[in-house]
Amino acid sequence: MTWRQMTRKRPANDLNHLTFGPSRGTQSPQMAPFAPLPRSRPELMLYSATINVMVKAARRAGRSLKRDLGEIEHLQVSLKGPANFVSLADKRAEEILYQDLAKARPGYGFIGEEGGMREGSDKSHTWIVDPLDGTTNFLHGIPQFAISIGLAREGTVIAGVIYNPANDELYIAERGKGAFLNDQRLRVAGRRQLNECVVACGLPHIGRGDHEEFRREMTAIQDRVAGLRRFGAASLDLAFVAAGRLDGYWERNLQSWDIAAGMLMVREAGGTVSDINTPGDALVTGDVVCGNEYVHGELVRILRK
Ligand code: IPD
Ligand code: CA
Ligand code: CA
Repeated sequence: MTWRQMTRKRPANDLNHLTFGPSRGTQSPQMAPFAPLPRSRPELMLYSATINVMVKAARRAGRSLKRDLGEIEHLQVSLKGPANFVSLADKRAEEILYQDLAKARPGYGFIGEEGGMREGSDKSHTWIVDPLDGTTNFLHGIPQFAISIGLAREGTVIAGVIYNPANDELYIAERGKGAFLNDQRLRVAGRRQLNECVVACGLPHIGRGDHEEFRREMTAIQDRVAGLRRFGAASLDLAFVAAGRLDGYWERNLQSWDIAAGMLMVREAGGTVSDINTPGDALVTGDVVCGNEYVHGELVRILRK
């Protein structure tokens, strides 16, 4: 059953009465990949109450992950290895997120990677949560991992927060209100020539996905782009596209908690996101491709061959 099937319809207006302040302008589409984003004065941003709830929960779970990351660095040297500890770290983070979100919004449903679906009395709202996206990176002390929180209303994602506690980068998006990184408004990169673009992908893990298909796709894209990357945290791949650091990204076989917040982030930054094979909803199929409208179109053309 998909997360979409798990929610029943009921009208709601949770965000409509809330204000959202002006941004500090638009990030240049020509900005070099990985250039530090300029910081704006935080007091200029006024986030909705829902976003504040999500940010508070993400920061608290982030502190827990950061503490556990410190432990991992010690565990690296032990023979047993840190794998079991990591599965505790993401369970702990998910429980913090559940407690905080449920306290602030009693009744909302909750889908978490670790605990699955927890039904709520409010059938229109569902949190879609990955408490630790980029587990393999975390396990190896690579600081590319994040907490990803999406909020769906009537089956549409209306708010997203992605937080990397390792570098304190906080991405926020709200439907119709834009996407932000640490209070700086985001805009997807403007490049139109694929041979100038840096594109990220996801690699299927051992025993999962279609490895042959991936190799075909990788070869086809590799031949046409300036650079191909594999970072290992789908939520941050999408956030990087929103921030204009990456020009595009594709990956198959993802779950709703990997991409709910990130897909909204890309759209709110002016990008295009779709399923790889059809114009349909990647949140349901798990096969996602994105970029600005030109890069998205080019990637789709290559991947659908
Ligand atoms: C994984 C990451 C990775 C993607 C995997 C996901 P996890 O999530 O997002 O980048 O390639 O397919 O499952 O397991 O680290 O939460
Ligand atoms: Ca994940
Ligand atoms: Ca995870």
